[in-house]
Amino acid sequence: MNNILKNAELTNSLSHNEIKNLLNVSTFDKDIFNLADKLRHEHVGDGIYLRGLIEFSNICKCNCKYCGLRAENINLERYKLSVEEILKAVKLAKQYNFKTIVLQSGESRSYKHEELIKIIKEIKSLDIALTLSIGEKSFEEYSDYKKAGADRYLLRIETTDELLYKNMHPDMSFKNRVECLYNLKKLGYEVGTGSLIGLPEQTVNSIADDILFFKELSADMVGIGPFIPNEDTPLKNSVTGDFNLALKVMAITRILLPDINIPATTAMETLVENGRIIALKSGANVVMPNVSEFECCKNYKIYPKQFSNVNNQEYLNNLKEKFEEIGRFVDVDKGVSRHFLNK
Ligand code: 5AD
Ligand code: SF4
Repeated sequence: MNNILKNAELTNSLSHNEIKNLLNVSTFDKDIFNLADKLRHEHVGDGIYLRGLIEFSNICKCNCKYCGLRAENINLERYKLSVEEILKAVKLAKQYNFKTIVLQSGESRSYKHEELIKIIKEIKSLDIALTLSIGEKSFEEYSDYKKAGADRYLLRIETTDELLYKNMHPDMSFKNRVECLYNLKKLGYEVGTGSLIGLPEQTVNSIADDILFFKELSADMVGIGPFIPNEDTPLKNSVTGDFNLALKVMAITRILLPDINIPATTAMETLVENGRIIALKSGANVVMPNVSEFECCKNYKIYPKQFSNVNNQEYLNNLKEKFEEIGRFVDVDKGVSRHFLNK
């Protein structure tokens, strides 16, 4: 292993230049993945946290150029689950022994504030940890969700390159996104962020900035995914993100923030066969299986994905077997980020 990595193992830090160099060359890839795996083992153990993902609505007012849920995509059939349907999905997840639910949707006002508060309170009454991933909201709204019992919030920064950000999100503001993340921290959430790897015009320079941003924010969770072109978006002809680069960004993030939670993302699994297991061996410690049981949820088409409706025991048993093959196990704890606890 080279000296830079040896030093990083001791200090959990890397300079911008060092990160850039590690991303640019493939010479040290194996060492990076091995070190990330070692630090994962030492800081968060061999348990894998399962999060039950419920994609409860694909309605979105935003127009992120890469995403199939963008408002201008008229080829997508839109849906929203009713409050009762969401709670039904949560109860099913509880039956499958999930200790954390992730409620994810496009960004919209299609649920009233009071409805969201009701959903949060009902879920919390089931003694389940709750992660929200519903986009940019006001400080007051985030505060109300927290008071109602939400524990965690996922909001990817997507990219820290402000020009690229503007380009990819014509109707959004980078400053507001950063502010949202800091508001969430202030309110005491476990905060998750992350980025897309392989966006058109994205540079290694800005990816190094992304990683340092995660460190600066002191994120509790970071999800990294390769960009996958979607036919129904302006980026349909763009080049697919590089799996190995995304994996490396994830591994370097583990080296800099050794005690956070890192999911093996669906995008990784979609792009490469066994991508999830590869990620779990390179720094990841979380898997987020989809537990929505409703037919309409197949329309949560961010990118073309082989829809796997996983709400059956057989699928989960299979997953457990795969974990065991690599010396890992499902941790049935709620899985609060160690980083959050250690602060
Ligand atoms: N490829 C990969 N990931 C995508 N996302 C949105 N569109 C794509 C795509 N085409 C990611 C974004 C968002 C998360 C929910 O999905 O990073 O934050
Ligand atoms: Fe909407 Fe999120 Fe897709 Fe952007 S990435 S269009 S906010 S669902």
